[in-house]
Amino acid sequence: MKVLVTGYTGQLGFDVVRELKSRNIECIGTTRNEFSLTDTEKMKSFVRKYKPDVIIHCAAYTAVDKAEDEVDICRAVNTDATKHLAEVCKEIDAKMIYISTDYVFPGNGEAFYEPEDKKAPQNVYGQTKLDGELAVQEILDKYFIVRISWVFGSNGKNFIKTMLNLAKNHDKLTVVNDQIGSPTYTVDLAKLLCDMALSDKYGVYHATNEGICSWYDFACEIFKQAGIKINVEPVPSTAFPTKAIRPHNSRMSKKCLDEAGFNRLPAWQDALVRYLQELNM
Ligand SMILES: NC(=O)c1ccc[n+]([C@@H]2O[C@H](COP(=O)([O-])OP(=O)(O)OC[C@H]3O[C@@H](n4cnc5c(N)ncnc54)[C@H](OP(=O)(O)O)[C@@H]3O)[C@@H](O)[C@H]2O)c1
Repeated sequence: MKVLVTGYTGQLGFDVVRELKSRNIECIGTTRNEFSLTDTEKMKSFVRKYKPDVIIHCAAYTAVDKAEDEVDICRAVNTDATKHLAEVCKEIDAKMIYISTDYVFPGNGEAFYEPEDKKAPQNVYGQTKLDGELAVQEILDKYFIVRISWVFGSNGKNFIKTMLNLAKNHDKLTVVNDQIGSPTYTVDLAKLLCDMALSDKYGVYHATNEGICSWYDFACEIFKQAGIKINVEPVPSTAFPTKAIRPHNSRMSKKCLDEAGFNRLPAWQDALVRYLQELNM
């Protein structure tokens, strides 16, 4: 099996390539230089030449607030390029694994979303990712759509790194406690994505680490595990106005993984222990 991974310079793409290599699976992790998602013809000819059996599409426009002002570029990367990748997958009969987001849902209430629940993205990024999903579903039969949330990995910026940095020069922090979801450790997710690549159990899945928390709970656990003494205060989202609306409810049901016989990811607190070790904390 030969796998092409987009977004090698990002958090997830980096760990997916690492996991594939550890399993001795032939793969290539592409970067913006040789594989610009907005240069359609170059991108398609790269794929035709490499001829992968699977494309794991991790690259995306992920600047959620900036996307509200940069709608065209966000759509070109998240929707149009995903459609073009799906087209070339169809042409060479490759499987496609498309990484999506909890932001496709309306984000209200307290129920756990099932994959087929009503979609109502609340911001530009979420809408463009949903439209990417729809393009994949329209073009391909051999696809996995994997929705994740609150991602952390060693290769890039994330909430954990932000909290650890802020703690260096603050003795008090305020963190929102009315957005509930689940963190996703890229090392754990990469294992599942490789299992999916090797299977033909196509479909739409939710895959985060197990358990739910608020950003406030997450911050408290980060400081507890890192042995950092700091005063953390819970505040509502209204204390941190952002350009893009964030969902209050990002709970996603993982029953779909059980039904297909895939392993769920470990608890998020356990993932955090291993991540802090990876960061040498
Ligand atoms: N981060 C989260 O909390 C989160 C939550 C839910 C879902 N997701 C989804 O999970 C996936 C992985 O996220 P991540 O956190 O690993 O993302 P990330 O760290 O922001 O990495 C994004 C990757 O996409 C590449 N990219 C962006 N625009 C490109 C373009 N025009 N051409 C080629 N490459 C381009 C970036 O390249 P450069 O380094 O050159 O910019 C980078 O390698 C994405 O599909 C994202 O939508 C993420």
